[in-house]
Amino acid sequence: MMATKEKMITLKNHRVVVSQYGEPDVLQIVEEDLPEPQPGEVRVKVLAAGVSAYDLMFRRSRTLPGTPRVPFTLGEDVVGVVDKLGEGVSTVEPGQMVAGATFCLGVGGGYTEFICLPASKLVPVPPGLDPAEAVCLVVNYLTAHMAMHRTANVRSGERVLVHGAAGGVGTALLELGKLAELEMYGTVSKHNHELVSVLGATPIDYQAEDFVERIHTLTGDDVDVVFDPIGGARQLWRSYQVLRKGGRLVWFGVAATKKKGMRVIPLTLLMVFLLKLLPDGKQVPLAPDLGKDNAWYRETLSELLDLLAAGQIKPVVAERIPLAEAARAHELLERGGYAGKVVLVTSA
Ligand SMILES: NC(=O)c1ccc[n+]([C@@H]2O[C@H](COP(=O)([O-])OP(=O)(O)OC[C@H]3O[C@@H](n4cnc5c(N)ncnc54)[C@H](OP(=O)(O)O)[C@@H]3O)[C@@H](O)[C@H]2O)c1
Repeated sequence: MMATKEKMITLKNHRVVVSQYGEPDVLQIVEEDLPEPQPGEVRVKVLAAGVSAYDLMFRRSRTLPGTPRVPFTLGEDVVGVVDKLGEGVSTVEPGQMVAGATFCLGVGGGYTEFICLPASKLVPVPPGLDPAEAVCLVVNYLTAHMAMHRTANVRSGERVLVHGAAGGVGTALLELGKLAELEMYGTVSKHNHELVSVLGATPIDYQAEDFVERIHTLTGDDVDVVFDPIGGARQLWRSYQVLRKGGRLVWFGVAATKKKGMRVIPLTLLMVFLLKLLPDGKQVPLAPDLGKDNAWYRETLSELLDLLAAGQIKPVVAERIPLAEAARAHELLERGGYAGKVVLVTSA
């Protein structure tokens, strides 16, 4: 009798969907059958899923290029346990912990208990790691690594300015910059100055100080590289002003949309285009898409996971929030004032 009852219990998936474009309360939970892995795919039971600034933009706006029609699921990165293999998969085993990006699914899909992903996107996580820390590596640390080592191609001893230094990518840039032996400065709100100092950079209060003047005063000169995830025409122009001849401005985001709205995006693109034309020996190299080079993606994510396992990096997790409270996570991102990455967690 007991066995029959157990058989009748079917496991269901719970997934957060954007039910309509709008405020955080449009994030709702749906219950559905478990997704089935197709050939070449792996079903992963998600333990941790990253929340990002992009998620807020896609939740708010149907006009942003690439936004799917509602209902859809956000989430660019996950760490979880392999639950079921699709036909032909032999690179991972059930029960193994893995990390992966969900770029291949468009805007993502990570806010869920179970997800099917191509085996080629999943990288084994060394035993014993915290899933919430590991998930920070997938998009934030890969973005930082790409910006630092492929786009800016930094050399030991160079001087860099990191904008948004207490943010998810900013803290990753500081951790990787310390390993690369860079001299670092970071723009950051006053309440996160101590964190940025501990991570090895000299903090500059972007709300109370003019960072161009402050860099001149602090360095007596300028910097070799500026990492700018803020965007906006004036911000990029000012970032360009603090570059030495031969310096590189690496722009990779538009966090300014939070305060100034979507109109910042075309102005940012126009400024990047104009700065690239200036014949003054400074460069504005553009980062390649993270998802383009799968061999780089797998190799670099593996290296980052090894650094985490060896204790050489320790991602800043702003807060671990249960998956069912995804709306609260979005409210936190919109309020700001946190440091590091906000992570959604499921019960193991
Ligand atoms: N291209 C890519 O592959 C890629 C990948 C990941 C992220 N991104 C983009 O990069 C940006 C940052 O991402 P994130 O995850 O690090 O975001 P985040 O965690 O929200 O961090 C953004 C940080 O910027 C700070 N900030 C806001 N306005 C600033 C200003 N004018 N000057 C200096 N700092 C300022 C915020 O500090 P306060 O809260 O104190 O204001 C916050 O700490 C986003 O636009 C994201 O979309 C791009």
